[in-house]
Amino acid sequence: MNKILITEFINENSLKNLKKNFEVHYDEKLYNHNEKLIKLIKNFDGLIVRNKTNVARNLLNGADNLKFIGRLGVGLDNIDTDYCTNKKIHVQPATGMNADSVVEYVVSSSLSLIKNIPIFNNGTTKGEWPRTKIKSEEINGKTLGLIGYGSIGKKVSKYCLNLGLDIIAHDPYLKDQTNEKNVKFVELSQIYEISDIISLHLPLTDQTKNLINKVSLSKMKQKPIIINTSRGSIVNENDLIDAYKNNLISGFALDVFENEPIKDSLYNKISGDMNCILTPHISGITTQSNERVCNFIANKAIEFFKT
Ligand SMILES: NC(=O)c1ccc[n+]([C@@H]2O[C@H](COP(=O)([O-])OP(=O)(O)OC[C@H]3O[C@@H](n4cnc5c(N)ncnc54)[C@H](O)[C@@H]3O)[C@@H](O)[C@H]2O)c1
Repeated sequence: MNKILITEFINENSLKNLKKNFEVHYDEKLYNHNEKLIKLIKNFDGLIVRNKTNVARNLLNGADNLKFIGRLGVGLDNIDTDYCTNKKIHVQPATGMNADSVVEYVVSSSLSLIKNIPIFNNGTTKGEWPRTKIKSEEINGKTLGLIGYGSIGKKVSKYCLNLGLDIIAHDPYLKDQTNEKNVKFVELSQIYEISDIISLHLPLTDQTKNLINKVSLSKMKQKPIIINTSRGSIVNENDLIDAYKNNLISGFALDVFENEPIKDSLYNKISGDMNCILTPHISGITTQSNERVCNFIANKAIEFFKT
């Protein structure tokens, strides 16, 4: 029987399913113990992780039996995929399985920030009744700029068309852009210039690291709202907060951060009277999406070892 190692949380049904087909070692905190993991991995044919397990070269070096890595999520930046290709290890992300949850996060935070809800909430709960102090806006007719038009970017655009938003997008790797009738594909500079809301839906790579920085923020003409559900380091957090404080952008929602959990140095720069939403990397995790992601990866592992 093939052996599967699971180093982070997986739901009960999927675990049962895997146990029917494999010898399973499940320890949802194992990602925290790299030395132990390096010793253990030698005996396993499959590995299932989320985003916290560092599947680097030093781990893969000793993984002589490993043929399959299932990622309970989408981003592969915690996995050395080039080395996996060399070692003929199949890497399986759960692409699309948590997209609906991320889309709902993007839509709800866009609506909330465009209406300045975090500031109204803060003032009201402090007993200030700031009814006329701040201007609120409607989202209808605003322009949404998407950077990255893959499975999530595409779904965000479909949803947001129904809210009356004009959609522009930038994705240099998308082959056929003509299929998307209601979306205008533009250069990155136009995204910065025209958008009222900018939402990021691209992977973290050497090219995209620090994409949103002092320079790109200075090109944003409409004082947009910035939403990042992709990966923390795509946005330079210090530059973003400076831009907010200098009135270059009107709000931001961050679900992902350069350091997770966030450090005091960032936390100390945020206050309740800012039009911002910070969440602990949860935009893709709902009861429904977690079920879909886990079932998908469990079934992919079973299918892989059958064939
Ligand atoms: N916060 C969460 O809980 C959560 C959940 C799911 C996904 N994510 C993250 O969201 C991001 C997008 O996920 P997805 O499922 O849509 O991925 P995807 O692979 O389907 O799409 C990514 C798109 O980005 C494009 N892209 C790559 N480099 C680019 C660049 N330099 N400029 C513009 N576009 C570029 C690609 O061509 C592709 O179309 C990933 O970073 C993923 O890790 C986060």
